[in-house]
Amino acid sequence: MCGIVGILGRGPVAEQLVDSLRRLEYRGYDSAGIATLEGACLARRRAEGKLRNLAGRLQAEPLIGQVGIGHTRWATHGRPTENNAHPHATERVAVVHNGIIENFRELREKLKKNGAVFETETDTEAVLHLVDGYLAAGIDPVEAVRATLSQLRGAFALGFIFAADDDILICARNGPPLAIGYGDGEMYLGSDAIALGPLTDTISYLEDGDWAVLTHDGATVYDHHNAVVQREVVKQSASASLVDKANYRHFMAKEIHEQPEVVGHTLARYVDMATERVSLPVDLPFDFREIKRVSIIACGTANYAGYIGKYWLERLGRLAVEIDIASEFRYREAPLGKGDLAIFISQSGETADTLAALRYAKQHGLHTLSIVNVTTSTIARESETMLQTLAGPEIGVASTKAFTCQLMVLATLAIAAGKVRGELSEEDEARLVHDLIEVPRLMSEALATEPQIDRLAREIAKSRDVLYLGRGTSYPLALEGALKLKEISYIHAEGYAAGELKHGPIALIDENMPVVVIAPYDRVFEKTVSNMQEVAARGGNIILMTDAKGAAEAAVEPLETIIMPDMAATFAALIYAVPVQLLAYHTAVVMGTDVDQPRNLAKSVTVE
Ligand code: F6R
Repeated sequence: MCGIVGILGRGPVAEQLVDSLRRLEYRGYDSAGIATLEGACLARRRAEGKLRNLAGRLQAEPLIGQVGIGHTRWATHGRPTENNAHPHATERVAVVHNGIIENFRELREKLKKNGAVFETETDTEAVLHLVDGYLAAGIDPVEAVRATLSQLRGAFALGFIFAADDDILICARNGPPLAIGYGDGEMYLGSDAIALGPLTDTISYLEDGDWAVLTHDGATVYDHHNAVVQREVVKQSASASLVDKANYRHFMAKEIHEQPEVVGHTLARYVDMATERVSLPVDLPFDFREIKRVSIIACGTANYAGYIGKYWLERLGRLAVEIDIASEFRYREAPLGKGDLAIFISQSGETADTLAALRYAKQHGLHTLSIVNVTTSTIARESETMLQTLAGPEIGVASTKAFTCQLMVLATLAIAAGKVRGELSEEDEARLVHDLIEVPRLMSEALATEPQIDRLAREIAKSRDVLYLGRGTSYPLALEGALKLKEISYIHAEGYAAGELKHGPIALIDENMPVVVIAPYDRVFEKTVSNMQEVAARGGNIILMTDAKGAAEAAVEPLETIIMPDMAATFAALIYAVPVQLLAYHTAVVMGTDVDQPRNLAKSVTVE
């Protein structure tokens, strides 16, 4: 992953580089660093850990150069030490890199034989020595980079500055995104437009295989055949100010609480509230009646949203739906039907596995539809159809509001499919849309359980393991609950289909194992009650998330019952997501972890 920035400025750039890196910390926060050109020398400041450590280092030892590059790292090759932190530099060149150089071992061996001395454990250092070798042989920076790029395999976004030239910054993209920003006699480089928000709103995006030479006056872009190309320059208003936490302690808390509003905005984009009809914002370039099979492909939380979408598309649209983890889909070599539909779900729109799966599906002649939050992202741009979630910027690494907005888009898509395929009547459509219109209000009611969940979290925080159970759409939600708890509290958790309990996991149940049961009063409720009894009989502590009717009929003594508002059962997952998220959040707060930036994770996963 990692985030990269670069500035060809007219005044000292260190502070601006750090400010831009702050906006990229969602891409990784294992270490950070900048390099600037101080006269004719490249100088670096790097620090292990969060960006504030680098800022502290710069206060003690400032840099005043007017040309610079910066990096925030999510470690892939080499531990997250200061020595492995980017930029990497020789006397002649400094480089920042996002991605993985797959042939770095082979390059490293070759370079070592030619006398290069490697100082880090990173794959990036091979790129550094390749360029440096050409420069040492008297080749100019542009030719040195051109020759280097032709030898690299893998995914990379790269930025270079050079000791011998204060009017040049070179960048290259193969995989991870890269944006070029245009200023007044200044030029900028960033992993995304958000990084450049305070600097400029005039942006162009490199396409895959492009590389570019920036000078103070502009950019020359080359494609992968080294032919000069024009890339569209657009005005983009990525807000100059960083999104703030308002009065919340963490972004995650703010984002959980924003859900009634942003889910409502998303709904308003996809339905006509007055007529209670689905009204998609784009014309679909395929006919749902001709689709034989839908594949839903995503990673992590987005995958669980897709899993819930599968239940809806099957039930309401009577469509055959497969759900796939993006990293498996591409390599499984499953037979794909030309003209069928593949749906990709991604908050960031940059997840490398999902992007690779999208490209694979396109190659195999599938219609591609993406549900994304960042509309300027690569997945958004490369999909045949893009449906936007209107969650707004999601900063907390653990996805919350993007998840429920993804669910909202999937729900409307399932209704649209059912309607077109003649499976739903106009009355069915109106009833279902009506149910969705209720969701924001019901979510606000669900948020009112927070004080109770806060108290409960103190108990959960004492546990070593937690089990989540559910049936129907509550099963993928159980998977999501377990993921959420694991990633931010570091407590081990598993999600299971409630009916699967007796096939293995029941062996884990004892008085120390809290079991969170997600069970709205629906057509499978009674079955779930039987599973709860199996848990209770073995001394397990049940935390039951249900509605008033479910609480009355549960026939077990839960440790705690969290009562959700009454609602139509079909879309209950949208509401039950709220207590699931709150439980993970408050447990993490009790555990004292870094809720918004949990260890080892990053918000945007741009490596496979
Ligand atoms: C978990 C989480 C991750 C992401 C996954 C996909 O809270 O946020 O599991 O859902 O990395 O990311 P996107 O949606 O950006 O493709």
